[in-house]
Amino acid sequence: MNHLIRLAAAAAALCLGAVGPVLAQAPDDLLPAATGKDVVVRVCTACHDATQFAYARHTPDEWDNEIVKMQSAGAEMTAEEQLAISAYLAKNLPRSAPAAPAALSDAKGPPG
Ligand code: HEC
Repeated sequence: MNHLIRLAAAAAALCLGAVGPVLAQAPDDLLPAATGKDVVVRVCTACHDATQFAYARHTPDEWDNEIVKMQSAGAEMTAEEQLAISAYLAKNLPRSAPAAPAALSDAKGPPG
């Protein structure tokens, strides 16, 4: 009987092993793999996980504001790390700035 229980436990463990990675995607995996990701994960997931910002899309200025905001919340990073984080967020979680009105009217162009 004992061996049956052990077999069942082993089977359950196998199942969990196969299904686990699919069900439980680590929050860090939400971040695109790119230069600086390691720094972002190290510095920016100390207080909350990456889901807090992985879905956000900001312009470079907005990201810099966000970083400053986190620093006033207590986030600690060297100047070098701050640059790496700023570059990573701006490049990999970007929101394009709204088009300038001049560019919009240019695109339409005068009729004829
Ligand atoms: C010292 C702790 C701490 C660290 C480190 C930290 N944060 Fe936060 N973060 C917070 C707190 C506190 C909130 C507010 C959470 C809430 O209100 O639910 C927050 C919220 C956010 C939000 C949601 C929008 C907002 O402004 O409330 C974003 C985006 C964010 N953090 C990004 C980052 C990034 C990017 C980094 C790395 C530079 C970072 N955080 C590092 C504490 C931290």
